[in-house]
Amino acid sequence: MATLRLGDTAPDFTAVTSEGTLNFYEYLGDNWGILFSHPADFTPVCTTELGTAAKFKDEFEKRNVKMMALSVDGAASHLEWIKDINETQSTEVNFPIVADVERKVSDLYDMIHPNADNTLTVRSVFIIDPDKKVKLTLTYPASTGRNFYELLRVVDSLQLTANHKVATPANWKNGEKVVVSPAIPTEEAKNIFTKGVEEVKPYLRLTPDPTA
Ligand code: BEZ
Repeated sequence: MATLRLGDTAPDFTAVTSEGTLNFYEYLGDNWGILFSHPADFTPVCTTELGTAAKFKDEFEKRNVKMMALSVDGAASHLEWIKDINETQSTEVNFPIVADVERKVSDLYDMIHPNADNTLTVRSVFIIDPDKKVKLTLTYPASTGRNFYELLRVVDSLQLTANHKVATPANWKNGEKVVVSPAIPTEEAKNIFTKGVEEVKPYLRLTPDPTA
């Protein structure tokens, strides 16, 4: 197993999940994907994360993103735990959770970091584009729950920059000004970005979000 890097092809797999046996690529279809692992079922931080992910599903769907979670617990455990998540987080878990008892997917995606924990998966996130390329990786420790607003924000940035010659600055949020790609000379940028180009420095040019 090698570490997955940005631009690598996300490995395909077929796995038992809380929604039956699923093939990852078939599940994703032509959508974007988020595959995220958590350490264990019936743990407090994971319970809040999975509940939050369920509440964000509509927002991810608007962006054509399908979610799949994973832990090394079994499917029966997932199904029992989902009842608790639904009850305590006032939601309905509405995406599959891989039951990676044999750690096959965890190994494929390098989700077990033995110096953190020898057996449990860390909080990994992989955002995968429709060509099945890895566009983002994140790794959080077991003690820190993830920020799903940040995942949505990254998806917005990835989808915008996939279609326009722009990049998104620090703390950017959907609809805010973006930066012109460094490869484009300012005069050319003015023709492309008809809403205007503000040249702060020759290498730092801002323009309104071209899709807003
Ligand atoms: C949690 O989800 O709360 C958790 C899981 C493993 C270690 C620490 C916290």
